[in-house]
Amino acid sequence: MAVREILQIGHPVLASRAEEVAPDAIASPEVQGWVDDLIDTMRHAHGAGIAANQVGIPYRLFTVEVGDNPRYPYKPRIPLTVLINPEIRFLSDRTYDGNEGCLSVPNLRGTVARHLEIGVSGYNREGEPVSFEVRGYSAGTWQHELDHLDGILFPHRVTDPRTFCSWSVFVEYHQPAFAEYVRGLVAEWGA
Ligand code: NI
Repeated sequence: MAVREILQIGHPVLASRAEEVAPDAIASPEVQGWVDDLIDTMRHAHGAGIAANQVGIPYRLFTVEVGDNPRYPYKPRIPLTVLINPEIRFLSDRTYDGNEGCLSVPNLRGTVARHLEIGVSGYNREGEPVSFEVRGYSAGTWQHELDHLDGILFPHRVTDPRTFCSWSVFVEYHQPAFAEYVRGLVAEWGA
């Protein structure tokens, strides 16, 4: 287990599509070590999620967890989840405007449209197939992490470049209204 260095936007591994993990390799010490390193690095950086290629592992897996996260005081909680070879399908056309940031894009926020109702599937760290649905604000977190595995970072998806702002500007000028917007989504969707 180790906290790994997080690659920054522009790094070729971040910009490339990650490779599938062979399902019969999930139990291997190498893949289990990747999972442990992702969890350690995500928690150390106070991220809501982290994808393997963000720490230089060019394979398709990510972890997600939202507890009492000081970076995201308005975010609904998500229990620790490890997903290998993840896939997402959209269950409706409804979207919301999420304010996103990324551990690989320091000190930048921006608005990205994300689907509100998704089906998520893949393998857990035990190598078992898993499938579940996510509705509401939390759905964006899964879409953000899957994007990483396809070489896509949130700035690539920002619908209006004028929404880019730094962390301190976001906290001072935009977070109160955004937190209210998220509370409305949570009230509607329960997550
Ligand atoms: Ni990210």
